[in-house]
Amino acid sequence: MITNIADNISSKDGHLTFAGQDTVELAKKYGTPLYLLDEDKIRENCRTYTAAFKKYFGEGSRPLYASKANSFKGIYRIMQEEGMGIDVVSPGEIYVAKAAGYDLSQAYFHGNCKTDADIAFAFDNGVGVFVADNQEEVIAVEAEAAKRGVKQRVMIRVTPGIDPHTYEAISTGKVDSKFGSAVETGQADEIVALTLKQPHLELVGFHCHVGSQVFAEDVYERTVIVMMEFAADMKRKYGYELTELDLGGGFGVPYVDTDGRFDIDQKLSEIAKTLEDVCARLGIRKPLYHMEPGRSVVAAAGMTLYTVGSTKRIPGYKNYVAIDGGMTDNPRYALYGSKYTCFVASRIDEQKDLEVSIVGRCCESGDIIQRDVMVPSTVQRGDIVAVCTTGAYNYAMASNYNKIPYPAMVLLKDGESKIAIKRQSYADLCMNDV
Ligand code: LLP
Repeated sequence: MITNIADNISSKDGHLTFAGQDTVELAKKYGTPLYLLDEDKIRENCRTYTAAFKKYFGEGSRPLYASKANSFKGIYRIMQEEGMGIDVVSPGEIYVAKAAGYDLSQAYFHGNCKTDADIAFAFDNGVGVFVADNQEEVIAVEAEAAKRGVKQRVMIRVTPGIDPHTYEAISTGKVDSKFGSAVETGQADEIVALTLKQPHLELVGFHCHVGSQVFAEDVYERTVIVMMEFAADMKRKYGYELTELDLGGGFGVPYVDTDGRFDIDQKLSEIAKTLEDVCARLGIRKPLYHMEPGRSVVAAAGMTLYTVGSTKRIPGYKNYVAIDGGMTDNPRYALYGSKYTCFVASRIDEQKDLEVSIVGRCCESGDIIQRDVMVPSTVQRGDIVAVCTTGAYNYAMASNYNKIPYPAMVLLKDGESKIAIKRQSYADLCMNDV
């Protein structure tokens, strides 16, 4: 079960603790802004996935960590140790995974605009499977495989026409999407026919990803049915039978109290049952089953710490607490209006009697981390603010706007802490300038 930090807040000496450690002490030791990642929690989440895949889908079926959620060397080492495959979307992710010693034969390469250079780079580094998004890519991967005299494994990304009921920017499975080839328009069929004709491609199966932060009840079950009906159609038409089905990522994570709670094990057992039934009904062999969880592996294992720089009360209007980070380390409120649970970590036991907006330090009015947060009215410069559930798509989407350096990332494990990513220096900020 993925829980929210507010389900289970703990404190010590009036300070918020995270992974059993005093957050105010961590802020003192490493400085702020600071990303924390609870390594034990990440490993526990990986094990929930790997155990459930083994139990419900059998050997060969596996979770592939969607490394776009949080990509740095340490995370790839954890994924390797936990037996997780990975999803990569760029040569940059391939490079970092390789630098971490990750075995790239276990990687699935996504993306809707892979250049010839990207494709060659992936071949050079032994990426296991290309997930082909469009016809041009099929041709380009075939050309590269032919040049090298090898046979390359590919999957085809299909848009199943499912609305996942999440916010628009991260909804990807509908027919009108920049990703994949649609079943409904016949384009998915065309790309299968094209791929089957290529002498240097081995089509292993079909992929789709309907969206992210999905809670809606039966989205995955409906998607399995659409995908397998499509697969059965391809079998009838071309005599092609898939060996792998990959349903992408998207399991939702609770950011605030009112969000749902997602039981990964139970959902996977329900999906397995649907897959079993639909294969029996269609008379098609059950394929290996993969998913690409990103957020649900790392989000709740993360927390960001900031130091308060100023507090402002505008009578008759609003109150502000300004922190030493913001949209540069977490652009998700600015982009999507995403909700977060926030605390004044240095006053965790005090009564919350003041409503504020927590805002960042950038020269941009939209630089807001969260509105309508209740905090103790004693909050002042020097206090530590904790923003919870920041392990996914925060560091990954960070920027150097206003030339603000990236924060450091610290991994917490067995009561110890260690730097996983050093804080960027000012020198780093103009390293490539000539
Ligand atoms: N597989 C594919 C092909 C994807 O496109 C994604 C996410 C995933 C897997 C992982 O989905 P997850 O399990 O993390 O939901 N920046 C947005 C999220 C964008 C997700 C993009 N694709 C955010 O901050 O909410």
